[in-house]
Amino acid sequence: MNTAIFEARRHAFIDHMQPGSVAIFKSAPQFMLAIDAELPYRQDSDFYYLTGFEEPEAMCLLTPQHEEHQYVLFVRPRNPDMERWTGKRAGVEGAMQDYGAHMAYEIGQLDEKLPAYLHDISTIYYSNGLGETFDGEIGALFRRLHYREGFSLRALIDPGDIFDELRVVKQEEELALLRIAAEITEAGHLAAMKATKPGMYEYEVQAALEYAFRVRGASRNAFESIVASGSNATTLHYVANRRRMADGELLLVDAGAEYDYYNGDVTRTFPVNGRFSPAQCAIYELVLKAELAAIESVKPGIRFEEIHAITVRVITEGLLALGLLQGELDTLIEEKKYSDFYMHSSSHWLGVNTHDRGKYKVHGESPMLLPGMVFTIEPGIYIAEDAEGVEPRYRGIGVRIEDNVAVTADGCEVLTPHVPKTVAEIEAFMAGHHTEID
Ligand code: GLY
Ligand code: MN
Repeated sequence: MNTAIFEARRHAFIDHMQPGSVAIFKSAPQFMLAIDAELPYRQDSDFYYLTGFEEPEAMCLLTPQHEEHQYVLFVRPRNPDMERWTGKRAGVEGAMQDYGAHMAYEIGQLDEKLPAYLHDISTIYYSNGLGETFDGEIGALFRRLHYREGFSLRALIDPGDIFDELRVVKQEEELALLRIAAEITEAGHLAAMKATKPGMYEYEVQAALEYAFRVRGASRNAFESIVASGSNATTLHYVANRRRMADGELLLVDAGAEYDYYNGDVTRTFPVNGRFSPAQCAIYELVLKAELAAIESVKPGIRFEEIHAITVRVITEGLLALGLLQGELDTLIEEKKYSDFYMHSSSHWLGVNTHDRGKYKVHGESPMLLPGMVFTIEPGIYIAEDAEGVEPRYRGIGVRIEDNVAVTADGCEVLTPHVPKTVAEIEAFMAGHHTEID
């Protein structure tokens, strides 16, 4: 993305700040797998959203009242020895030239340079809890500044409310990236479905899926891929992916590609041998009915929680019809009896985080949908292997179906429409009638 987009976001953030305040943001830490072995680095989503800067050990200041520098970066210094091991650093010059900082300093100069930006400031926006060490360091720094410079901190404000507001409605350039992430995610799911055969290991399907992501430019996953066969599918975030898949089982694949920091998140559940058993089909059709009804309902003006409520009603009705629940429909819903089988929410916001910024309650109420909001719809039914009072043929079945939608002026755009979803589509696809996305 070009620097003008990040600049516009900083301006939008500044517009929400209180007069006489400064905002401080910290980059994500670099986690280590072992000594000298770095885990792949991903910038903190809020930090990236405002700066586009992808290095660790950085800080961003937004200082709207400063005469010259409203945007300051503190970054790692250039270091040819270290750069030989871990890659090029922007350094102070790069931070200004390539990332638009009005002024940049080395991160080690924080103590020395920060006071000049805090004259007449008593309110700081800062996400406490980003890291105990850093919180401690910042706290100690403010205390030193108080002692040395007379700096008086009156209020620390969590910037979360501003990010929630800015990030929950996507701009055109964000929708464009989400469409690409969605399309790559679909391609991965098609590859997974195509590859699956009885006797394979879950990780082999994962490899096919993630190969399709990588060759299309998604260098990272949105999250660890969930490739869950048989009763593993009843573990919502099963990521071990080490089991050998047997004939007659279902496979649940929940995976997404990240493209330029924007994420897809799709789930499909399909039979390993290409044909649903009657019991699998009954559960699958029910989840599908709930998912389609929820998608159908999406439009501006309805509340976010109504989507979940629709899936709950369809699933509870269906569980009653199948004999998995007994009682009166409205009472079962009121008493949340469905939650033995459907224990998560139907939807979450989707964007730079897979579970993106955005509120689920505003003044105690579920928010109204607005054009540009993007979220998942992902009902599921999970029947434990040892579920009591359940016919054996239903035990150990886990089904989730998930798509990504963007709210439009009068309904929604399904961002992930190309992966087979009906029983007939899945069975035809797995019988060799493949469709491709390139
Ligand atoms: N796809 C994983 C999740 O939404 O939690
Ligand atoms: Mn999801």
